[in-house]
Amino acid sequence: MNTDVTQQETAGAPATGWWTEAVIYQIYPRSFADSDGDGMGDLPGITARLGHLAELGVDAVWLSPFYPSPQADAGYDVADYRDVDPLFGRLADADTMIAEAKARGLRVIVDLVPNHTSSAHRWFQAALAAAPGSPERQRYVFRAGQGADGAEPPNDWQSVFGGPAWTRVPDGQWYLHLFDTGQPDLNWDNPEVRTEFLDVLRFWLDRGIDGFRVDVAHGLIKQADLANWREPQEILSGNEADKPRPPMWDQDGVHEIYREWRQLLDSYDGERILVAEAWVEPAERLARYVRPDEMHQAFNFEYLLAAWTAPAQYAVITRSLEATDSVGAPTTWVLSNHDVVRHASRLGLPIGTPKPNGIGVGDPQPDAALGLRRARAATLLMLALPGSAYLYQGEELGLPEHTTLPDEARQDPTWARSGHTERGRDGCRVPIPWEADAPSYGFGPTDASWLPQPPSWAEYALDRQRGVPGSTYELYRTALRLRREHGLARGPLKWLSSGDEVLAFRNGELTVLTNFGPASVPVPAGAELLATSAPLDKDGRVPTDVTVWVRA
Ligand code: GLC
Repeated sequence: MNTDVTQQETAGAPATGWWTEAVIYQIYPRSFADSDGDGMGDLPGITARLGHLAELGVDAVWLSPFYPSPQADAGYDVADYRDVDPLFGRLADADTMIAEAKARGLRVIVDLVPNHTSSAHRWFQAALAAAPGSPERQRYVFRAGQGADGAEPPNDWQSVFGGPAWTRVPDGQWYLHLFDTGQPDLNWDNPEVRTEFLDVLRFWLDRGIDGFRVDVAHGLIKQADLANWREPQEILSGNEADKPRPPMWDQDGVHEIYREWRQLLDSYDGERILVAEAWVEPAERLARYVRPDEMHQAFNFEYLLAAWTAPAQYAVITRSLEATDSVGAPTTWVLSNHDVVRHASRLGLPIGTPKPNGIGVGDPQPDAALGLRRARAATLLMLALPGSAYLYQGEELGLPEHTTLPDEARQDPTWARSGHTERGRDGCRVPIPWEADAPSYGFGPTDASWLPQPPSWAEYALDRQRGVPGSTYELYRTALRLRREHGLARGPLKWLSSGDEVLAFRNGELTVLTNFGPASVPVPAGAELLATSAPLDKDGRVPTDVTVWVRA
């Protein structure tokens, strides 16, 4: 039965709550801070560095997975949803981290990976040991193959990481994995799967976490006939506005699952939230995930992917605000995460470069200075927009992508599965620098680092930027403080200029202007300059690729 309803029927009053205004900082545990010197970040390392996040001025952290995992996809292949991988510490370290974060006024969101388990999960191991058609196999998507002896996969679906989305097991059946072979897709039509995940949610809610970032939230339900789909898969193109809806993404049935989860979360005190990672376009379709009885937020990837031009930015901002307003949800904003080229490098590529999934030595290299200049302007624009914003660890340092990683260091499964045609996402996952002159730039007590850090990390280290006027770190701190003081998250936003070269809007008592054009423009009149992403020119005008915040 399709219990789906239209937006008009569910649009409610605008939501209120901490999450509607929050700046949420993504910690990638492998690369944030290493307490024991093995080259792998860990939970005690995170706990020890929480002071940095409080000083930066964010409201919450979201941690990428730290569960037991063979790490076939950097932890997004979960073998046990109720424990911590020894790589990252123990369950008690998670409890300590949560308690210490709370003591500093930081909320904690954990990553939930419901689309697939690891092939090392006890359920999948049981499925392999059981016969075709058994209850153990029905927790996953097992099918007979096609052709003579069933030697061809059940359909033509491709894995997001490259290669076929099916792998054959010794008895001849095939199992579906939209991602790596080590990430078998669960069968969400099986009630046992639903019950199990409600219990996993309770496990973490009972430990005091404030919410879940839901991985691949648009993928759980597949079209029942598993119809062929000739298109290749790409992580950034789960579902595009101008194409038919793929049979594996954004099926209406997913919404029932999130309604049930929402009811569970609402039975807990303290405004626990669900955040959808759903690569779904257009914005109206994405807004269905944040109707009042479903999730609280969804990542705005259309914004992340928008070109650095005034018309493109204007279009995506207005479209995003309208779509989420129609369901009463806060709009979210994001420029970087662990799956995309860091925006300090992405914006240093020629404008309109197709979504880069990774940059390698032989690829056109970004212009680092231009990229950082635009990244700072983009961030200052983003942090003035009404709604909630996501930051990715290291962007507060202006950290670029590591674009010259040696191929033999690459660990992202995309690299191997694509037959070395896609570089993968390692370049944005390199351990971050804290101290310019320390081993591993202060990431840990030794030189060990699971991905090599480039020598340029010294100049980006936190201790080179803290207290230095004009540094990227101080720009972020200032912006976060002013954002809070002036209630920018609450809006509303009123456009003053939306031409081809300049965007300007009012938000509360602030005027925000970004100059995308080739010539400098005047600072908005009658005003006190509160923040600027780069120095004004010698005539006191706003140069190219600069954002200013001005008190009206
Ligand atoms: C999400 C994660 C990504 C992961 C994939 C499969 O897109 O952000 O890192 O590879 O899901 O779990």
